Formats: sequence, C-alpha cells, structure tokens
Amino acid sequence: MQSPMAPYPMTRLRRTRKSPAVRGLVRENTLTVDDLIWPIFVRDGDDVVEPIPSMPGVNRLSISRAVEAAAMAHDLGIPAICIFPYTDPSKKTELCEEAWNPENLSNQVIRAIKAAVPDIAIMTDIALDPYNANGHDGIVRDGEIVNDETVAALVKMALAQAEAGADILGPSDMMDGRIAAMRTALEAEGHHNVCILSYSAKYASAFYGPFRDAVGASGALKGDKNTYQMDPANSDEAMRLIQRDLMEGADMVMVKPGMPYLDICRRVKDRFGVPTYAYQVSGEYAMLQAAAQNGWLDGQKVMVESLLSFKRAGCDGILTYFAPEVAKHLKNG
Ligand code: PBG
Repeated sequence: MQSPMAPYPMTRLRRTRKSPAVRGLVRENTLTVDDLIWPIFVRDGDDVVEPIPSMPGVNRLSISRAVEAAAMAHDLGIPAICIFPYTDPSKKTELCEEAWNPENLSNQVIRAIKAAVPDIAIMTDIALDPYNANGHDGIVRDGEIVNDETVAALVKMALAQAEAGADILGPSDMMDGRIAAMRTALEAEGHHNVCILSYSAKYASAFYGPFRDAVGASGALKGDKNTYQMDPANSDEAMRLIQRDLMEGADMVMVKPGMPYLDICRRVKDRFGVPTYAYQVSGEYAMLQAAAQNGWLDGQKVMVESLLSFKRAGCDGILTYFAPEVAKHLKNG
C-alpha cells in the first residue's frame, strides 16, 4: 500500500526524522522484554558452568545453575526459557530411549525450575538428536530417517516433558504428522493447556553449527539433515508446512534460522496472522559475537538492531541467546 504524497518540497520525508521526539512518535516497531525466549544449555554435574567455545558468553549449566539462570531471567522480566540438554555420549543409543526417560536431565531441570521459579514459562525441544547415537533428529534404519517410528518416539518424549511441567513444547524434528500425534496424546492425557510452538519452517542450515557443539551432537552426526529439514531455496513450501502444523493443532509457529529467513517470517505473519516466532540461531549469535569481540562491530548495537529486525518482519517473539543481555539493555537503556 502506497500512501498519497505531495511532491517535494511539500513532502520532505526527513521532517519526521528530525529529532528523537519526532522519531519516537513515528516509530513503527519496538523490541520489549516480552518478546524474548532464552535458550539455555544444561548438563549433568554439580555446580558446573562450562563455557561453549563457539558461542562466547554462553555456558552449559548444571541443574542448580540452570535454576539460578531461570530466576535471573524471571527477575529481568524474560517470559520464557527453553531447555537444551547436553547428553553424555554413554546415554546415546540407536533407539534414543533416554529421550522419554522421565528422569532424564531435561525433565529434571524442568521440575527443578518449576519448583523454584513457577512463573517463568518453560519451553522444551522435541527431537531425538541429543539422545541419538548417530546425531539425527529421527530414528535411523538402513540409512533412512524413518518418519512414523520417530513420531511415536517423539510423542513419548512430549508426554514426559508435559508430565515434568513444561508449558510450551517445541517440536524441532521436522517429521510429518508429529503435531497431530502429540496434540492427540496431550489431550488424551489431560494436558489441555500445554502449548505447542512448532518449528514448522526449519531449514537445513549450516548456521546450527555451534549449537551442535553445545549439545554434543557435532561429532555424532553422520550425513546431513536434508531429507527432513527444508531446502533453503524454498519459500512456498514453508507456507504449506505452517498451514499443515496449524491444522494439526499447533498454537504458535516458528521460522528457523532467523536473520537469513526474515522474508519467510513476513510471509507467515501476513498470510496466517498467528503467533509467529523466529529463532536467532547459534551461528547468527556466534557471527555477531565474534565480530564484536574483534572490535569490528558494536556488539550492543548490532544485538538490538538484529532483534528489532524480527519485530519489523512480523514476529511476535524471538528465541535468542542474547535474551539476558538485551533484557538488561532494555531495562537500563
Ligand atoms: C535440534 C535442534 C537444533 C537447533 C535447535 N534444535 C539443531 C539441528 O537441527 O541440527 C539449532 C539451534 C541453534 O543453532 O541455535 N533438532
């Protein structure tokens, strides 16, 4: 839509940029703490804070430290955190049984945070990769990532997480039929109010590299994820995936990665008008942090600008490793 405009000099578009006050009046989008979901990495052990080299500023936290992090996030006003477990290689199997163990690390963390910080929303990740001996999101048989058997495993994983107290489940596996299967099981088991934030349009991206280090999946992964994650060349296909997941019972949808896929975010919001999220993934975070550490970019400024771009693209919120830092920045200016 093009607004009517008198010719220059009757129209001078710089007029509305002349001072902070006027710029404030015409500002179209704002980033607030309510827009943030903070992904954290957890590991076993006592009182451990273990830096992740490819993600400067991000650590793997043992349970007590994860609870402290959740409390800190809540104090900053961050509405939700998302838990990703680093799994000891000894617990990884071909059938990924640890994924639905009610006492696995992720479920222990959910319970501990729920008990100590009941008001922060807890999001989870549903995919088999942290528990899989071959690093894939699904069960592998004769070289194929099998769909339906994986969905059955993911449903067990979803129920165990809901049972532990998760508020928002995040299926990131890209199998077909998983949203309907999970929603049906959640309803049957009385988990009527557990939300599903589906990673509906998740691309087969090289920007996930540092994350795979963080959860210890890099070494394990054999081959690539191209038979289930999306081709970065496609956009219409993302609309079909979003529509499909909404029709299967997803409450919210996600585009992932974030910055290289802002066009997809905008299309999703315009077309469906549903709660839409983007994941500013590990590689995006690593790029900005690396450049900032070298003094090549102003870290604070690019952090805020990159997150604002998601709001402009139509997102209702962003999963970002910058969440605590940007929350502090928004608070203190
Ligand atoms: C697991 C999962 C991945 C990410 C979130 N969930 C990695 C992958 O699909 O290989 C990536 C997040 C990030 O890079 O920050 N299925």
